[in-house]
Amino acid sequence: MYNEINLDKIDINSTLPTEEPFRQYYFIAKGREWVKTFQQKNGHLPKFCITTFGCQMNAHDSEKLKGILGMMGCEETEDEAADIVIYNTCTVRENANQKLYGHLGHLKNLKAKNPDMIVCLCGCMMQEPHVTELIREKYKYVDIVFGTHNIYKLAELMHIYFATSKQTIEILEQSAETVEALPQKRKYNFKSGVNIMYGCNNFCTYCIVPYVRGRERSRRPEDIMDEIRMLAKSGVKEVMLLGQNVNSYGKIYDYSDGKIVHIPHEERTTFPELLKMVCGVPGIERIRFMTSHPKDLSDELIHVMASEDKICKHIHLPVQAGSSRILEKMNRRYTKEHYLGLVDKIRSTIPDISITTDIMVGFPGETEEDFEETMDLVERVRYDQAFTFIYSKRTGTPAASMENQIDADVVKRRFGRLLERVNIIAGEQLKRYEGKIKDVLVEDVNAQDDTFVTGRTGENVTVHFKGSKELIGQTVAVNLKECKGFYFIGEQLQ
Ligand code: 5AD
Ligand code: SF4
Repeated sequence: MYNEINLDKIDINSTLPTEEPFRQYYFIAKGREWVKTFQQKNGHLPKFCITTFGCQMNAHDSEKLKGILGMMGCEETEDEAADIVIYNTCTVRENANQKLYGHLGHLKNLKAKNPDMIVCLCGCMMQEPHVTELIREKYKYVDIVFGTHNIYKLAELMHIYFATSKQTIEILEQSAETVEALPQKRKYNFKSGVNIMYGCNNFCTYCIVPYVRGRERSRRPEDIMDEIRMLAKSGVKEVMLLGQNVNSYGKIYDYSDGKIVHIPHEERTTFPELLKMVCGVPGIERIRFMTSHPKDLSDELIHVMASEDKICKHIHLPVQAGSSRILEKMNRRYTKEHYLGLVDKIRSTIPDISITTDIMVGFPGETEEDFEETMDLVERVRYDQAFTFIYSKRTGTPAASMENQIDADVVKRRFGRLLERVNIIAGEQLKRYEGKIKDVLVEDVNAQDDTFVTGRTGENVTVHFKGSKELIGQTVAVNLKECKGFYFIGEQLQ
């Protein structure tokens, strides 16, 4: 489908196509007309600035927004005093919400100086009705608001806004379809995220994601493969397959009657099968994926990871807590023992693999003993890296109304103890790579010293070594000479 699109051939005076993505390309073509008029009036192309909060999913969504605006002819800038300002929001923890309101005050001042500025808000936070209500009532200078299910409609929503000059808000409860073959502008031209599925059906009791990202739906394998082949042709060497729970890729559900009913079917493509297909794409050298839920990580996946050289030897396996009692209250559907068993199985099959995780402290009812279980798990697994979070109460989730919310000071102390241990262990773990030769994909010139470049190994270890910008996008063999805590200083093999 990527070959069928040519903006120059779209007649914007003809009737509006009903099918996607053609409808959106029609609006992008219309947007180009707006860009021309803007340029004539202002003497420059419209500049846009996108600020992204949150996870890889959001970062990838922002690349789609950049793709749409870029195709219209707008220019990207890092400066918020731009003509189009977009905030792609996150709501997984409360502090992310607070941050947005802080930024909005700043935008109000910028808009006072440039009244033609278009202010857009999108992403997870916009899927919460109380947020959009507040914006409608109190933040009238926000022009366009959309959610997670209609990110692809930016050009259409801009068109509606231009036609009405009114605050344009469109929030959908659920995606009607997964729209394929839309433009995207990648941060790096040698690596790219690829959505393989959207939404989440797990309903961990603390988590707002299933409410704001909707029900789980997998993209068709042929659409994913088309995209990856197209990316490889344009120079991409590394892909990161993205989903909230990649291990349930390909499952089909019946969502009628408001229930989630899994429909088993034999012909579906499983995640390990998809991985093998991606390994077959010429030009793709590295494959990563994010995130794996421990409850459905299969033996098949471990074996495919072990046997396919292109799959990076790194797995992010969020544990959240070490106490089986808390894990049950979190609705994680595994126990501490099961998780430890998985880690053993992974390490015995793929010996040098890097294992990372997410851990939460202060879930309602967490006792000192429960917390000790988390500390014990951390000692036993010895993570290469652990992202630690203080539990944040999200309105509408089951955990928000649980008894025994934990005192903030107690949580802070536990958090401090955990952070200290995970950092020490991560440093010790990293040392095991010292003196080893690894393939490093070079990403950037070093920010501090431009005689150095920075890249990553397949295990996701950061390495700095002498080199110049010509190396960006290349995979080179590097000796990991000196461990500096969280990264290595290396030396390229000649
Ligand atoms: N409070 C704190 N952390 C949370 N996460 C998800 N929901 C919450 C919450 N309510 C963390 C989990 C998840 C990561 C992406 O964010 O650890 O794995
Ligand atoms: Fe949230 Fe759990 Fe789904 Fe992850 S698996 S997005 S933590 S509900």
